[in-house]
Amino acid sequence: MNNSNLTIGLYDSGIGGLSLLKKLVKQTRNINYLYLGDNLNAPYGNKSKTELISLTENGVKTLYGYGANIIILACNTLSTTLLLDLKNSESLKNLNVNLYGVFPPKIDSYDTALICTQLTAKSNYVKNYFSKTKIIPLPFLASEIERFVFSKEKINFKADVSAVNENVKTLILGCTHYSIFKNEFTKLLPNVNVVDGLSTTVNEVKKAIDIANKTLNVKRVVTTNHKTLTATKPIVINGNKVFFVGETSFYNKKVFKFILK
Ligand code: DGL
Repeated sequence: MNNSNLTIGLYDSGIGGLSLLKKLVKQTRNINYLYLGDNLNAPYGNKSKTELISLTENGVKTLYGYGANIIILACNTLSTTLLLDLKNSESLKNLNVNLYGVFPPKIDSYDTALICTQLTAKSNYVKNYFSKTKIIPLPFLASEIERFVFSKEKINFKADVSAVNENVKTLILGCTHYSIFKNEFTKLLPNVNVVDGLSTTVNEVKKAIDIANKTLNVKRVVTTNHKTLTATKPIVINGNKVFFVGETSFYNKKVFKFILK
């Protein structure tokens, strides 16, 4: 399947990055999107940085192999922990690829709480930008969402926000898995402003699309037969073609259709 549209890859530990993909397809046109989730190794939030660097380098190379030259780590854990390392990585430096990430918005105040994975809570990003905000690491929520996306009644969101006290006015969802169920947090905390980092990334990517459309003379084509892995047939939204790639491509396509509703 070849065409001359720009190709953007998204990478996450599993289904979390689909929350970003949903926003992107609604706000852009005529882009090829490739989604790669490493669901078989999810969750990422409790793994070592060394292991995550190696998994993510493979993910980036796979997406590049399919034709992406803009790649988004659609995952707060990867973005806060290793995006900078990857930008300087020896093994990726020969690829013509621009890397982007998703970060918790920098709202630092005593009436704000940030829920995120354990690795995000320990990252330099959180240490550098948050001194007043209450940081609440949640070791299990991302994997619960990964397992129970089709049966959300099995997820105890209430327990996860029990540390959010009545002084909190803003709750930051610092994990793309949580953004899938943003409405559940809003319902539980009706007086709290629930935010995440997705819109900032969408705006950055829109700028990157404008620049690439003006400067990239030869756009890379989507190759749907990448070595041993194949891609699903695309879902077409707004002229965007959304392909799911990797071993769990059919599962991620099914979840995406479900959360689009
Ligand atoms: N979706 C991811 C994030 O934004 C990763 C969650 C996980 O795998 O632990 O942090």
